[in-house]
Amino acid sequence: MATQLVLLAAGQGKRMKSDRPKVLHAVAGRALFAHALASAEGLDVGRKVVVVGNGAEDVAAAARAVDPEIVTAHQADRLGTGHAVAQARAALEGAGGDTVVLYGDTPFIRPETLAAMAERRGAGADIVVLGFHAADPGRYGRLVTDGDTLLRIVEFNDATLEERALTLCNSGVVMAATERLFELVAALGNDNAAGEYYLTDIVEIGRDRGLTAAVVTCAEEETLGVNSRADLAAAEAVFQARARAAAMENGVTLDAPETVHFSHDTEIGRDCVVEPNVVFAPGVTVEPGARIRAFSHLEGAHVSAGAVVGPYARLRPGTRVSEGARVGNFVEVKNAEIGEGAKLPHLSYIGDATVGARANIGAGTITCNYDGVSKHRTAIGEAAFIGSNTMLVAPVTVGAEAVTASGSVVVRDVPDGDLAIARGEQINKQGYGRRLMDMLRARAGKGK
Ligand code: UD1
Ligand code: CA
Repeated sequence: MATQLVLLAAGQGKRMKSDRPKVLHAVAGRALFAHALASAEGLDVGRKVVVVGNGAEDVAAAARAVDPEIVTAHQADRLGTGHAVAQARAALEGAGGDTVVLYGDTPFIRPETLAAMAERRGAGADIVVLGFHAADPGRYGRLVTDGDTLLRIVEFNDATLEERALTLCNSGVVMAATERLFELVAALGNDNAAGEYYLTDIVEIGRDRGLTAAVVTCAEEETLGVNSRADLAAAEAVFQARARAAAMENGVTLDAPETVHFSHDTEIGRDCVVEPNVVFAPGVTVEPGARIRAFSHLEGAHVSAGAVVGPYARLRPGTRVSEGARVGNFVEVKNAEIGEGAKLPHLSYIGDATVGARANIGAGTITCNYDGVSKHRTAIGEAAFIGSNTMLVAPVTVGAEAVTASGSVVVRDVPDGDLAIARGEQINKQGYGRRLMDMLRARAGKGK
């Protein structure tokens, strides 16, 4: 039987001091709530309900963009986590199975952890709560246990000094049979310090009804919740540490791991080398054996086997670098296909273009792709040689094995094998150089 998913994402996130709903803030280029959804990837998920409230329209739109099957339930007033779960009831009518409750601001629960909770449910616990041993329990809810049995959850504000001394804390993640969960949530009261309907009270209510509750624990790092910008930075650090470790585990050399920044979807093949200070923005795949040199920034780009990118290269969305190609320092490439073995060694902008195999692009080459209104394409043929400082005014085609003279402004197509020279003709005036300098010095009253 499938597990239904309820993701709580109605909170305001006041401490973020942001105009954007908290769950839309990103870690590694992906919104917090989307990370949280990904933690359920290992479960056989049935329906997915995101409870929205603050910034409801934006959150709902972002959720649908991540997964069109997501349904949203609206929580008009933030009356607590139990009240939030109750809003999902209609969307899960008749769904059956189990339901897991996740928080949109808690991005790092591992799929294995939810699998362990499902297993504990299978082993007979009616309510399974995810807990963790906190180094600094702070204001987390505390889990009151007796051996393996969870007796109740007490919120920090309602806890006695003795209960506050407990270090086993509530992550917020709960799993129970769907029908049962909603029966329990419907029975919640709000007679507590916050005047809220606490989801956590379902444990005590359930036990009064003869149900059993159990705790599954996970590493504290998994339960990291984001409530402030500092938490967001801490979450980013956790993500990056995991991504670096995973890359190295998969056979990627990171010369200085702590300086390499990954996105949630970065894919790097084995035997790649990533030099220091490289940023992988979303949408990058790198095939085995490529080298990404220092201080490069890649986004929405594919780098093929054996290619070398950087140092100081910028690959923007739509870039494909073919096998053995080289994109060197201070080169920006956007929406362009770089052919096998082509070389763009330095100081170029190549946008909306195709560069043929083995073509050589001289320093200072620019594809003038934008006329102020529309973008136009440049096509450079195989083994073409583009002289330094060529302006290729698109739309324009340079044929295979064609050559452009340095400093040319190329506005018309160059046929295969031709040489285009498009620059002012050089005139040498005999002795004028020296005479000019003498004249200027005399005017300034300076001797030689
Ligand atoms: C909650 C738990 C606490 C646990 C902690 C872990 C309760 C009562 N307390 O406390 O035991 O240690 O999480 O981080 O459950 N939300 C709504 N609507 C609401 C209230 C909250 O959607 O009316 C959402 C929030 O957006 C957030 C999540 O539920 O994603 C948790 O709410 P929050 O107010 O942060 O709970 P805590 O006080 O942190
Ligand atoms: Ca919280």
